Amino acid sequence: MRKKFIGANWKMNLLYEEAIKLFADLSNSTLNTSEADIVVFPSSIYLSELSKMPGLPVGAQDLYFADSGAFTGGIAARQLKSISCKYVLVGHSERRITFFETDEVINLKLKSAVRNDLKVVFCCGESLGIRESKKHLEFVTNQLMQGWKDLDETEMKNCIIAYEPIWAIGTGLNASKMEIEEMHGTIRRTVASCFSHSLSQSIRIVYGGSCNQHNASDIFSFNDVDGGLIGGASLEFDSFEKIIKSL
Ligand code: PGA
Repeated sequence: MRKKFIGANWKMNLLYEEAIKLFADLSNSTLNTSEADIVVFPSSIYLSELSKMPGLPVGAQDLYFADSGAFTGGIAARQLKSISCKYVLVGHSERRITFFETDEVINLKLKSAVRNDLKVVFCCGESLGIRESKKHLEFVTNQLMQGWKDLDETEMKNCIIAYEPIWAIGTGLNASKMEIEEMHGTIRRTVASCFSHSLSQSIRIVYGGSCNQHNASDIFSFNDVDGGLIGGASLEFDSFEKIIKSL
């Protein structure tokens, strides 16, 4: 039985006071964290402070792959570890598109994160054009295989995979049950063929893309869905709490 995972991806939202308040409210609420791993991914400038507050674990939205050095603006995996940050997102479509991250860069980031013992939410997902051309399964499989190139099974145990169709992120559009189950099944089979059957059964695969308090319980009940990565609906206490309760 895989433990559920829900990530709150705050992206570049919330001012300092708002972030502290929302984090404190979430941490103080009655959310039952023994049934699920619930992780908040705030802006990196708030990480250090939030990681010292009691309650939920925090994760970074990005990292750079070098261990240290002259990389202005970069944050290393070792620095994240040094402030007790436990998780990091790698390969989010907004990083791939807006910040021009290639599969090669994503692979280096993933390796740096797992080798420094961070847990990674490794994101994948296709654009609408790719889905319409019916190449989505092949495209996502390739994204995964490029991303986890040279990683071994032990390192992969530190990964959670987030399937986030780009056309569903922040748009209010959801992938259908059939579309989600087809992709999550494909991802699980790809893990089995690249690593092992046992890893494919234990690795968590979560869905992201306009997941909210109204559709979360349906989405979380689909085959092969082990939780969600939530953007917009994680920015307000009530909606995020409802999503967690829908587990
Ligand atoms: P959304 O974002 O829930 O606002 O669609 C999800 C994500 O980008 O992780």
